[in-house]
Amino acid sequence: MKGLFITIEGMDGSGKTTQINLLKDFFEKQGKHVHVTREPGGTRISEAIREIILNIDYQEMDYITEALLYAASRAQHVAEYILPAIEKGDIVICDRFVDSSIVYQGMARGLGQEMVATINRFATRGLEPDVTFFLDLEHRQGMERKKNQQELDRLESEKEYFHQKVRDGYKQLAKDNQKRMIDVDAGQSIEEVHQSIIKALKQKAIIADKYNDEE
Ligand code: TYD
Repeated sequence: MKGLFITIEGMDGSGKTTQINLLKDFFEKQGKHVHVTREPGGTRISEAIREIILNIDYQEMDYITEALLYAASRAQHVAEYILPAIEKGDIVICDRFVDSSIVYQGMARGLGQEMVATINRFATRGLEPDVTFFLDLEHRQGMERKKNQQELDRLESEKEYFHQKVRDGYKQLAKDNQKRMIDVDAGQSIEEVHQSIIKALKQKAIIADKYNDEE
């Protein structure tokens, strides 16, 4: 049986990590085998590429270089980690995936959705998530939540209007991909966001059949 590939998208500070951990617990309580991973990263090589992409010293990085590095990191992650896990029948929950590149590089940086989608189809061998949750939160609220954490990385330190473009981009993408993408109000409490995710999962036929908790 093929496993399940779930991705979580959203603005910086939208609570993705917390929700991913709650979702993992939810599936594990049903005896499922769950892998949690992230992009850029998830394998030794992909994490090394991450160090280059997010390094705040590399202010001169060209946008096309940036898009290709995200895709390169993803190619390794898909081949070495995600595909083998799904083929075993496991669940993979990934913090960001191709949608991040479409929105950040394609829309906010202005490289164009089509070009970014094309290089990513090559990088992923055409793998697409079964379901994607977009945790929607205003940039200001996200930054407020991150205030006491680590220093901002190269992408996080972009100007306000860049993040507005990111948010608008996600909303557009969610509208264009309603079968796969689920828009969740991340301004709710942690428990409310989790419950919204579970409710939506149960409504998705493909997942409800395979993973409903009444079994
Ligand atoms: P991440 O570590 O997930 O940051 P956060 O925990 O704040 O969500 O991602 C790092 C940054 O990389 C984030 O600002 C979004 C950006 N990014 C892209 O621009 N394109 C991509 O394809 C991915 C995966 C991330």
